[in-house]
Amino acid sequence: MNTRIYLDHAATTRLHSKALEAMRPYLEDEFGNPSGMYDLGKEAAGAIERARSSVASGLGCRPQEVVFTGPGTESINAAIKGVAFAKQLAGLGNHIVTSSIEHHAVLHSCDYLAKFGFETTFVPVDAFGTVDPDEVAHAINERTVLVSVMLANNEVGTLEPLPEIAEVVQRRAKSLRRRISLHTDAVQGANALDLDVKRLGVDLLSLSAHKFGGPKGAGVLYMRRGTPFLEQLSGGGQERQRRAGTENVAGIVGTAAALTEAQANREQYSKLCGQLSRQLIEGILQSVPAARLSGHSEQRLPNNVHFSFEGTQSDAMLEALDDLGIAASAGSACTSATWEPSHVLTAMGMPLGRAAGVLRLTCGPENRAEEIDRVLSILPRVVSESRAKASSGLSAK
Ligand SMILES: Cc1ncc(COP(=O)(O)O)c(C=O)c1O
Repeated sequence: MNTRIYLDHAATTRLHSKALEAMRPYLEDEFGNPSGMYDLGKEAAGAIERARSSVASGLGCRPQEVVFTGPGTESINAAIKGVAFAKQLAGLGNHIVTSSIEHHAVLHSCDYLAKFGFETTFVPVDAFGTVDPDEVAHAINERTVLVSVMLANNEVGTLEPLPEIAEVVQRRAKSLRRRISLHTDAVQGANALDLDVKRLGVDLLSLSAHKFGGPKGAGVLYMRRGTPFLEQLSGGGQERQRRAGTENVAGIVGTAAALTEAQANREQYSKLCGQLSRQLIEGILQSVPAARLSGHSEQRLPNNVHFSFEGTQSDAMLEALDDLGIAASAGSACTSATWEPSHVLTAMGMPLGRAAGVLRLTCGPENRAEEIDRVLSILPRVVSESRAKASSGLSAK
């Protein structure tokens, strides 16, 4: 019997059966290159255009405004670098505004642009990880070309007030008599949130298919008509000169099928995952001493549970959970030999002692209440053992 409990849906999700079904012909018999002038190619090209129309209806935009990319990281790189370089070339400015809790795809794109004369203002967040639209307004200046704020944070699940941010960006742009593009990294939002680009007020929006039941390595960039853009992949001119390279036909078809499912089931998903998350949160608060929920208590993704446990270490807890068949995460990857706290938790002002011992448990609709019960029966021991280990390590020094 497979007793594994998967609680890392923010990292990736299982491929939806409808996405697999939609993809299968393009992995088997319909293998044509969409640029081909024969039936097989035309069928592949047609499938891409049908997928484009389907994604466009999910985002409330025109099909021509949808660009299929590689993973979310590529979509974000294209949005930020593509707009920044186009506007720099046109002499329109060299300043970007973003938040201090963005994914590294955003932060490192801004770092990269610094090598080409761009400056970035990183807007702070409050203790819940919320970006204040007034701070965004304050950061915009007469050289600002782009603002990028995520729709939902991948670590602590906090939802950002995008429509309000869009309003202040427009107001500031008007008063400075300039056009400022607004991008949102919506990678974590597709399962639970309305992605209507007009309601959000954004010019660019990035998605990653594997976060909502689509295949890995495929993503979407919505780009409002007329947005200045310099392509970041040059070559054969696919995707209307915005992303060259032979299209990932099956990936594109699977992305569209998964997005249709995800957007159609948003309410049900939010209800189901919300119940499981509440069960986890209440259970942890009752059974684990000194546990503190991170992020916003209400304005958060319904499937995100993120706790800090003073005096513990994330790695030790994750290993212990893995030994017991539970897949969880700390929310941010530890990429270096020397431990560094997550930039998101640091930006929220979380003390180091807490940021060292965190767990992110992200539910999916296939999780069951019994699985949450099992996690709750195990977690207090995992936390107390990590505390004991950490404190004996400290006293041994
Ligand atoms: C908020 C956010 N943005 C961007 C990405 C990057 O997506 P991908 O790894 O699919 O390129 C992720 C992935 O975890 C994410 O959570």
